[in-house]
Amino acid sequence: MNDKKHDGDLTIAAISGSLRSGSYNTASLMALRELAPAGVMLDVLTLHDIELFDADVEAQGWPEHVKALRERVSRADGLVIATPEYNYGITGVLKNALDWLSRPTGEGPIVGLPATIIGASSSAVGTARAQSQLRDVFFYNAIPLLPTSEVLISRAADKFDSDGRLTHEPTRLFLGKMLDQFLPWVRQHARTAAR
Ligand code: FNR
Repeated sequence: MNDKKHDGDLTIAAISGSLRSGSYNTASLMALRELAPAGVMLDVLTLHDIELFDADVEAQGWPEHVKALRERVSRADGLVIATPEYNYGITGVLKNALDWLSRPTGEGPIVGLPATIIGASSSAVGTARAQSQLRDVFFYNAIPLLPTSEVLISRAADKFDSDGRLTHEPTRLFLGKMLDQFLPWVRQHARTAAR
């Protein structure tokens, strides 16, 4: 925790698993940022330029973009991942970033960080399988996951306008309710380990 913050302030690292400029997942995080109450900073992180994980590279020190990502996640009190689904799984870029953020095993910036998952896809049932895979990554990293919350934004093309703004009111309300649950829960599950 950053001790310069006021008691009520929270920083949430919000990672998009898509690199696409028109990504519905990145746009979902932008909508979440709009919905967040005062004092809650959603730090939207995209994964452009993150080097491929290689233990030989790691042994020489964190690459520049990995280091910057790790620092931003280290400063966060909570984590939201917006995951696309590619071939019934999470994207390669997301898995790669989580691998870096999990290091060293048991001590990486994501370890123990209270989290929730959202996902947007063009299909009717998309991201359920990708979200399920993420839960395994969370389990390995002792990441407490907001219970009973599942945000599946299906048929995303119908819910965002051409500027990438989430215009589907029921989805905005649903995201707002998720935040209402998530933020107090993050405070309750604040990680204690120094990083
Ligand atoms: C997809 N898409 C997709 N959708 C889905 O619901 N289940 C899937 O398994 C897949 N598989 C898949 C594989 C690949 C290689 C691509 C490029 C796409 C469609 C996907 O949901 C759609 O492209 C989303 O728009 C991706 O998310 P972003 O980029 O909008 O955030």
